[in-house]
Amino acid sequence: MDRFEPLRRRTIALVGLMGVGKSSVGRRLANTLGLPFRDADLEVETAAGRSIPDIFAELGEPAFREGERRVIARLLEEPPLVLATGGGAFINPETRSLIKSKATSVWLKTDLEVLARRVSRKDNRPLLAGKDPMEVLKAQAEARYPAYAEADITVETGDTAHYISVDELLRALTDFVAEHQA
Ligand code: S3P
Repeated sequence: MDRFEPLRRRTIALVGLMGVGKSSVGRRLANTLGLPFRDADLEVETAAGRSIPDIFAELGEPAFREGERRVIARLLEEPPLVLATGGGAFINPETRSLIKSKATSVWLKTDLEVLARRVSRKDNRPLLAGKDPMEVLKAQAEARYPAYAEADITVETGDTAHYISVDELLRALTDFVAEHQA
């Protein structure tokens, strides 16, 4: 048995604020473990046949949240994989309890200054459009951290290269699984 085998038995779901690296760290984690990788945002876009900004603009945020809930429920029925969720997914009580029952959840947590810098480089996030990223992130942190704190594991990543975050994640997951799947 290789040392990662216990980590392949259950889906690993990454939660946390925008810009924290759920997709990029998740993709690397999946590669390292030899698990499939799924990005909930991309799956919602595929299902809706349009981009997230267009979904928000044309259908509204509630429609996006409903699509997100359905997509994540479907992905959690698949054999184990690494799932990057959108920043708001784990805030929905129904989605959160589904993730908690079917996956090992990991809150990726990083200083808001780092996140603000990262998200400023992209314009694909409707919740930030025309707003000061730091203000949005501060408000989201206040509203969302209590929900994220319900994740099985919290990994603080800081402004580190993603491969270092993956190492930290692997260590935290290995410890968690050793304790809970004995
Ligand atoms: C959102 C985060 C985004 C995306 C949508 C809404 C949020 O995903 O789902 O723009 O509510 O925080 P990322 O966390 O991958 O940026």
